[in-house]
Amino acid sequence: MLFLNKKKLFRLNRRLQACAGMVRKDCVVADIGTDHAYLPIWLVKKEIIPKAIASDINIGPLQKAAFNIRRYNAGRQVDARLSDGLELIFPNEADDIVIAGMGGELIADIIEKAPWLKDAQKHLILQPMTCAPELRSYLSAHGFSVKREQAVQDGGHIYTVMQAEYDPAQVQTGNVFLQIGILTADTEENRAYIAQQCGRLQKRANGLRQSGKQAEEADKTEQVLAQLKQVLAAE
Ligand SMILES: C[S@@+](CC[C@H](N)C(=O)[O-])C[C@H]1O[C@@H](n2cnc3c(N)ncnc32)[C@H](O)[C@@H]1O
Repeated sequence: MLFLNKKKLFRLNRRLQACAGMVRKDCVVADIGTDHAYLPIWLVKKEIIPKAIASDINIGPLQKAAFNIRRYNAGRQVDARLSDGLELIFPNEADDIVIAGMGGELIADIIEKAPWLKDAQKHLILQPMTCAPELRSYLSAHGFSVKREQAVQDGGHIYTVMQAEYDPAQVQTGNVFLQIGILTADTEENRAYIAQQCGRLQKRANGLRQSGKQAEEADKTEQVLAQLKQVLAAE
């Protein structure tokens, strides 16, 4: 009978797989904005981590998380918690904090409201859906250094996933960093992400030129574009 109750574990999509790949083995994870809780369930079921907090600001997603936690028999290891960002997660409760599937500005806001993240022992695994440059700018200005970054293609979109930690001496700066983080052109997915950013910058430069008034801004944008193209060429 026990055998009948066993639910086969799902596969994570490539985007969440990339996040999972940056989680440290045997640490405790807080997944902020968990929604379905697939990531924490998968991590405990694969025995990568012993336990996790699956947290969301909204009751609907949290109910979905609780349902899946029960469904995959992970209730002893995954705690579903209603919380706005890290407000109700306490510093000694988690080592790796995943904030994925949200806009970069919201991710920055969540980090800003949890000053205890300014601790080199805490790892942040961040996956912005939009506004990645704004998130990188926030990290840089607040002493967080990006230690790993990888682009991942999933469902026709290209995303970036980064692992950052508080390390003011090693923060990255500059326009290239803002656009592509620490990605290099060493994988097809990284190249696709860099090329996508090139396309966006080209569009911005064209728009600025067409407006007729912002030639200086257009020149600056094209300079950054040229730098990104050099990164692409330096495969
Ligand atoms: C698109 S889902 C992402 C789900 C999952 N993390 C993923 O990447 O597949 C975004 C989730 O973030 C939650 N959310 C939005 N703002 C939040 C906040 N301030 N604190 C916690 N959760 C938040 C939403 O309720 C929603 O469930």
